[in-house]
Amino acid sequence: MPFTLNVNGKPVTVDVPADMPLLWVLRDVLDLRATKFGCGLGQCGACTVHLRGNAVRSCQTPVSAAAGGAITTLEGLSPDGSHPLQRAWEELDVPQCGYCQAGQIMSAAALLRRNPRPSDADIDLAMSAAPRTRASAKRSIARRVNRTPRRPRRR
Ligand code: FES
Repeated sequence: MPFTLNVNGKPVTVDVPADMPLLWVLRDVLDLRATKFGCGLGQCGACTVHLRGNAVRSCQTPVSAAAGGAITTLEGLSPDGSHPLQRAWEELDVPQCGYCQAGQIMSAAALLRRNPRPSDADIDLAMSAAPRTRASAKRSIARRVNRTPRRPRRR
């Protein structure tokens, strides 16, 4: 069944089953490999992307639910890796295996989009739903989010 998606600002049409997870469409049909498969159960967050501006687990999102909504993957966060979160991630240089990084960055980007000036508690709450990682990495990730330049609030 054909679905028209808006992925990273570009319209694309895919012909896939309605219940195919968005993760497989992104990785296997559209060849966008930054989004990772981890648990496939909605638990680990490695597959996190933005759908209509919200962080979602793409392994648990059928393509039919994503049709017509703006989808952003790590590849679409910035054309050249210059998103403030990506720069902050590099600046502090503390990734471990790196597998969860795309999900962590996409979770943090969704937080900053809806709350440009999050408190430490806001960050802890949002990132507790982000991909699971080691405790030392979580502290570094919180520092990265705190160091990310903030956009002024919209009025
Ligand atoms: S692969 Fe989607 S939450 Fe783990």
